[in-house]
Amino acid sequence: MTTIPELAELAIRPGVIARPLTLSDAPAMHALIVENRAHLDRWLRWSGPLLSEDDVSGFIAMFEDKQREGKGFHLGIWMDGAFAGGVVCWRTDWQNRNAEIGYWLGRNFLKRGLATEASLAVTSFLFDNARLHRLEMQCGVENRASRAVAERCGFVEEGIRRDSHWITNRFVDHVVYARLNPADAQRGYPD
Ligand SMILES: CC(C)(COP(=O)(O)OP(=O)(O)OC[C@H]1O[C@@H](n2cnc3c(N)ncnc32)[C@H](O)[C@@H]1OP(=O)(O)O)[C@@H](O)C(=O)NCCC(=O)NCCS
Repeated sequence: MTTIPELAELAIRPGVIARPLTLSDAPAMHALIVENRAHLDRWLRWSGPLLSEDDVSGFIAMFEDKQREGKGFHLGIWMDGAFAGGVVCWRTDWQNRNAEIGYWLGRNFLKRGLATEASLAVTSFLFDNARLHRLEMQCGVENRASRAVAERCGFVEEGIRRDSHWITNRFVDHVVYARLNPADAQRGYPD
């Protein structure tokens, strides 16, 4: 498999869904970024340069292309109809059946388990539907909230990539977390 299977909408829990962002989501995403500028720019590489609604449209279009080409996706998370944040598949490596995922939320949506549950839903999708073998998350060493999400999702700490990400105005060391697909241990490794 080198394409991402059909991914319309993931039911996260009653009232919470995640689905691929489309260009019509640009105004809501732009508003959420503007409202949460300092909170997001502290830890995300990509939010700082997204200043206008057009910038956000371009970012969403990049993920639409990635999804079409089997290279990743960006799902928006909605809680009771309100745009809350996103869960991202940054890259796929079909040769090695690896991918990297990440997540972000507006401050009003923290501490409700949304990032954890959305990441678990994407993990299941990538293991069960896309038959990937290994998923990674990379979290800023001092990003306690993000590391807690990775750990709650059963990802195991593997090491530190020094100065791996340029974020806003400084290099930030990141911890690599990974989880392996437990089903592969039983069914063996497909060709
Ligand atoms: C990283 C980030 C998404 C984590 O947000 P979060 O709200 O802490 O994570 P969750 O949505 O999974 O919620 C977990 C919290 O809700 C609580 N919770 C409530 N219901 C829960 C449920 N059903 N399942 C899991 N946790 C639940 C947990 O106990 C936890 O609270 P605690 O930290 O006080 O123990 C957020 O801090 C963020 O957006 N930061 C900026 C962007 C960023 O850093 N992204 C990651 C880049 S690597």
